[in-house]
Amino acid sequence: MKNPARMKNKGYSIEGVPLLDLKSQYRSIKSEIDQAIAEVCESQHFIMGPVVQRFEKQIENYCGCKNAIGVSSGSDALLIALMALEITAGHEVITTPFTFFATGGAIARVGATPAFCDIDPDTYNLDPKSVENYIEKNCDIKDGKLINRHTGNEVKAIMPVHLFGQATHMEEIMRIAAKFDLHVVEDAAQAIGAKTKEGKTAGTIGDIGCYSFFPSKNLGAFGDGGMVVTNNDELAERLRILRVHGGKPKYYHAFIGGNFRLDALQAAVLEVKLKHLDEWTKARQKNAQKYNELLSSIKTIKTPTEISGTHHIYNQYTIAAVDHSLDRNHIREQLTENNIGVEVYYPVPLHLQECFNYLGHARGDIPVAERAAKDVFSIPIHPELSDDEIGYVVDVLSTIVEVSDS
Ligand SMILES: Cc1ncc(COP(=O)(O)O)c(C=O)c1O
Repeated sequence: MKNPARMKNKGYSIEGVPLLDLKSQYRSIKSEIDQAIAEVCESQHFIMGPVVQRFEKQIENYCGCKNAIGVSSGSDALLIALMALEITAGHEVITTPFTFFATGGAIARVGATPAFCDIDPDTYNLDPKSVENYIEKNCDIKDGKLINRHTGNEVKAIMPVHLFGQATHMEEIMRIAAKFDLHVVEDAAQAIGAKTKEGKTAGTIGDIGCYSFFPSKNLGAFGDGGMVVTNNDELAERLRILRVHGGKPKYYHAFIGGNFRLDALQAAVLEVKLKHLDEWTKARQKNAQKYNELLSSIKTIKTPTEISGTHHIYNQYTIAAVDHSLDRNHIREQLTENNIGVEVYYPVPLHLQECFNYLGHARGDIPVAERAAKDVFSIPIHPELSDDEIGYVVDVLSTIVEVSDS
């Protein structure tokens, strides 16, 4: 396959478009951020404390939930959520294999077994029908418990992921969970502020919702950070205790937790950024609309499917190379050659990861997720993108697709 020419001579003064532009974002709010950081430094109160508490209240208001508990990362949010629900060895958690590793990793880290089901080919989110089929084919109800008849494990929970910033099919997931008396832990790491078509906020619908403040998220910290949210006061209390090694009162441990605390410096940064989040999300949505319009004539690729009525926050703008004569690696190389940020989220579905070999999966077991892992790639969608940058990305991508296609 030959390389398309570099696009510099197309009349753009653009040298490239990064996948993320956190430096521009920082410059636009520098004075607010610097002041917030300085205030924490003045206080020398770095671990939890009033700034973390204030930020938790703001997340409660923003997400419309009763309890928000700041934690050390999105990965730890998932882990502590499963710990709070006492999910452990001998238990099974149904989830998607098409996600960041932390989703499945958290399940395995508490000693439970991930049960991977397939995804919806349009949204890439867990397909409720696949979950129902899995339960029907593999499980029996014994003494009111849902038991995997092959392993004897008790199915305890469903862990859907609101991937790329689009709220998943929560209505159906909640219906299945209610039918079989399962917990629901929402991995909303990529989806703060996203809403379902019923108008419910991602993360606040199940028992516990988990957010990540990894810097590349729409609400990104200056390091690691996360949040668990729940409307259940008892669970909230347990989560708060688990966050500090399970100690309550301090140095008295009825159960074992960990150091899952959110730093005050991160909370201070996030508090400032939260004020701008809606305006940034609007810019991401506008960018997505522009891409959708400009890319609509290219039939070899599929732009993201937005479920009508949902509030998609576009943490990623993920395209699929649906014409299988297209080579996704070639597209990726050529975008990189033209200094356009591109990433594949995610090249290997979790059921085919080496560390999950013990589950006994083979290629072909979860076909829609496997197809997505081969086809998708994400291009810049950050709020700071200019119209010219979007135009440049679209021109380069169109040229690559034409070349690959010829
Ligand atoms: C879907 C998903 N789950 C969990 C995580 C883990 O979050 P963190 O990186 O904050 O640990 C991420 C973040 O990358 C994610 O995208």
